[in-house]
Amino acid sequence: MDPMLNMAVRAARAAGDLIMRYVDRVDSLKVTPKGRNDFVSEVDRQAEREIVAILHKAYPDHAFLGEEGGRQGLARGDYVWVIDPLDGTTNFLHGFPQFAVSIALLHKGRIECGVIYDPMRQELFTAKRGGGATLESRRLRVTRQNGFKGALLGTGFPFKDQRQMDAYLAMFRDLAKDTAGIRRAGSAALDLAYVACGRLDGFWEIGLMPWDMAAGILLIQEAGGIVTDFEKGDKFMETGNVLTANPRLHALMYETIAPHVTDALRFKLPVAAEPE
Ligand code: IPD
Ligand code: CA
Ligand code: CA
Repeated sequence: MDPMLNMAVRAARAAGDLIMRYVDRVDSLKVTPKGRNDFVSEVDRQAEREIVAILHKAYPDHAFLGEEGGRQGLARGDYVWVIDPLDGTTNFLHGFPQFAVSIALLHKGRIECGVIYDPMRQELFTAKRGGGATLESRRLRVTRQNGFKGALLGTGFPFKDQRQMDAYLAMFRDLAKDTAGIRRAGSAALDLAYVACGRLDGFWEIGLMPWDMAAGILLIQEAGGIVTDFEKGDKFMETGNVLTANPRLHALMYETIAPHVTDALRFKLPVAAEPE
């Protein structure tokens, strides 16, 4: 395995092990929401610290963009590790077993490696640009589903910004009409991994952050899928709007959502700059 991908796998497994040590304790704290939230964010922070420590030791010149503030060297780094130490925090908080660690390596803005690790199922998804995507040792391919009939789609709700809700619900209504079903499982990283391995035929979500999607996007591209923003462009990392499926289904999904893309969806992600 590629040495950088191998290191990302090591970091993802270490974070996953740490998260699993807290799984039962989260349940016991459920009755005290503030304490529970603090506790969980401490898990997030600890997992991110663990990941950054492992990668920084191996690659001291690389930069970091982590959800929980693990940001270093962004102004000068050609190599940037983009990290979501716990994707699906709300699920984790409720004992709903769908969450993951997501780590991607960007070189000059291009995603080179991606790892998504589901510690509950101990499923490890990896991708290397030009080298394919795998689940354990199995090579991944997106599905060949070429129409809505029988298709299973994934999505996420735009719960952070109510102004996007009307446009989202119109997309949902029109996509739900002819498909076999739509799932909102609560971890965008795993949703994307599931498209790559064929458990979902397609996925769309508004307003994701780079750490939610970077690893998953490479998995899908390496598994033969198409990933675009809502205008069929490549600005998904900038806008956070992601539409993905195999090429045929992607075209149909695009035609369906396009009439509902409003200005409220065309914004730049507010990724805070690193404090220098
Ligand atoms: C969230 C999950 C969720 C998606 C949200 C993300 P977090 O990440 O990926 O599925 O709908 O937009 O923020 O906060 O649990 O790391
Ligand atoms: Ca996330
Ligand atoms: Ca997170």
